[in-house]
Amino acid sequence: MQDKIHPVPAGWAESARVDDAAYQAMYQEALADPNGFWGRQAARLDWLKPFTKVKNTSYAPGAVSIKWFEDGALNVSANCVDRHVEARGDKVAILWEGDDPSESRRITYRELHREVQVFANVLLSLGVEKGDRVTLYMPMIPEAAFAMLACARIGAIHSVVFGGFSPDSLAGRISDCHSKLVITADEGVRGGRKVPLKHNTDLALTKTIGEEKVLVVRRTGAEVAMHAGRDFWYHEVAATVSEVCPPAEMNAEDPLFILYTSGSTGRPKGVLHTSGGYLLWASLTHELVFDLKEDDVFWCTADVGWVTGHSYIVYGPLANGATTVMFEGVPNYPSVSRCWEVIDKHAITIFYTAPTALRALMQAGDEPVKKTSRASLRLLGSVGEPINPEAWEWYWRVVGEGRCPIVDTWWQTETGGILISPLPGATDLKPGSATRPFFGVQPAIVDGEGNILEGATEGNLVLLDSWPGQMRTVYGDHERFEQTYFSTYKNMYFTGDGCRRDADGYYWITGRVDDVINVSGHRMGTAEVESALVSHPKVSEAAVVGYPHDIKGQGIYAYVTLMKGEAGSDALKKELVGWVRAEIGPIASPDLIQFAPGLPKTRSGKIMRRILRKIAEDEYGSLGDTSTLADPAVVDDLVANRQNRK
Ligand code: PRX
Repeated sequence: MQDKIHPVPAGWAESARVDDAAYQAMYQEALADPNGFWGRQAARLDWLKPFTKVKNTSYAPGAVSIKWFEDGALNVSANCVDRHVEARGDKVAILWEGDDPSESRRITYRELHREVQVFANVLLSLGVEKGDRVTLYMPMIPEAAFAMLACARIGAIHSVVFGGFSPDSLAGRISDCHSKLVITADEGVRGGRKVPLKHNTDLALTKTIGEEKVLVVRRTGAEVAMHAGRDFWYHEVAATVSEVCPPAEMNAEDPLFILYTSGSTGRPKGVLHTSGGYLLWASLTHELVFDLKEDDVFWCTADVGWVTGHSYIVYGPLANGATTVMFEGVPNYPSVSRCWEVIDKHAITIFYTAPTALRALMQAGDEPVKKTSRASLRLLGSVGEPINPEAWEWYWRVVGEGRCPIVDTWWQTETGGILISPLPGATDLKPGSATRPFFGVQPAIVDGEGNILEGATEGNLVLLDSWPGQMRTVYGDHERFEQTYFSTYKNMYFTGDGCRRDADGYYWITGRVDDVINVSGHRMGTAEVESALVSHPKVSEAAVVGYPHDIKGQGIYAYVTLMKGEAGSDALKKELVGWVRAEIGPIASPDLIQFAPGLPKTRSGKIMRRILRKIAEDEYGSLGDTSTLADPAVVDDLVANRQNRK
């Protein structure tokens, strides 16, 4: 079957920053001479001390090391703020849209400059020093961005924890990196509901070493407990500090942030990104993938708790002097027209969201979209999970009215920014394909043994060489970094994704091939959900797999074996869902729970997940070879009681 192709729309090749000829030439240039190419690209940043070395990277087994611009120095916050004040002081830097449609704020670059300096001085006054870790557990308010930039200004390393995570998850992340300070708010507001962030922080701090301080930003004005000597109101400290805080000189390889993300096994890993390479990557991809122009109003709907929010709400757009929209709410509040109304209200030109949101909005029909104008829109983007062609076509036809190219951007927390994506003035689009690699990105598809497959093929997606935005290590555990990403296939970075490449050289990401699931664009380790389940006193064993879900992309399917003498019931299912929500957070809630007297195990005791996945998908007719199971009879019971019947 011929793939459907949407050619680069008329006029785009001429007006865009990169056309196809430029794409081809620049891609070859970056391949042939990475030092020259990236040395020139890095001039887009302001350096306090110029670098003399560009690329110094190795994927060699046992000696993985990634350094870019290693003898250069810069300050990330100065690049995102200070250097724009002269030419763009009155331009809106952050356009904040509240959960309540009547609330919004416009913060100019000049105001941002002041806010970030004050925030940085507040951090200094609380004893935060260069290299210290600071955890943010914040709602989507401008202060979250001020806090990130303030950390960058003084050289503290931020670790943003999504506000939907539970106190336990927060505690684990605070402890893992020994944060000195937690920045939170009294409450968050989402979809008309309050989120008790300060209260959750208090609970989390009962499980840490207890030496952390807490800085509380006032959002709702709710009464919250303040522990004398430990907790400080931001506005009170801010009133006592100077408005001037010079940016610290940071080495290009000094850490900028840690962001915890789920993997196949164990607890979430602290993905570490550094200053120079990361900022270069975030800003260059933001400019070229979104074809940024001076007057654009750019809206990425992510939360700053995820990498998408780091790179495409805060660092990329602000490094580029763009106007970035920060949205506190959710796409369906107060109505399913909210996104489109916000687009009209602020004359947004570029809209970047996740397929799960599109699928949910698509279900509400075309009318809630069509009653808005969306005339300001010129470009659309997608991120976080594979976009099914139906959702792509709807995005194209209904939201963009056949006028706006769609950039389907593939990347990961680990990659720092976009790696595979169309460039709107250069790339013909195929619905469902992330299309072609960005400059410096060398994807390859390998079989199970690591043999590189050529031409049109399918297999596992690896990257053959480093790019400036790549993560540098797992915080505090370089061995785990090597083990996770560089041990499956030697001398290659393994993405964990399956992928197809077609005859035109276009890449089609097919989803994770490891035990990571992607629920509503949120990454979750099955092992994390399992360990939450088995911590319940009535649960003896649990196995969790993903299954196809119309809106979420993947849903969470849990097989639970109860302790002897316990009986499964709907009430217990509810209790277990509540338990997992409390342990990890609502995003980890199992969608389906099946009580299973036994799990399919090999004679050596290994759970055969392949079988569990098939049953969860309702594909029990093709279970494959079950003869190696210790007790083949358990499969019959699992099939008979399966929860997902199509
Ligand atoms: O499976 C891929 C999927 O999301 C994973 C990375 O998740 P996370 O680190 O949370 O970062 C999400 C935001 C960048 C990938 O391994 N993924 C991300 N973007 C796409 C995608 N799958 C298909 N198409 C995409 N455009």
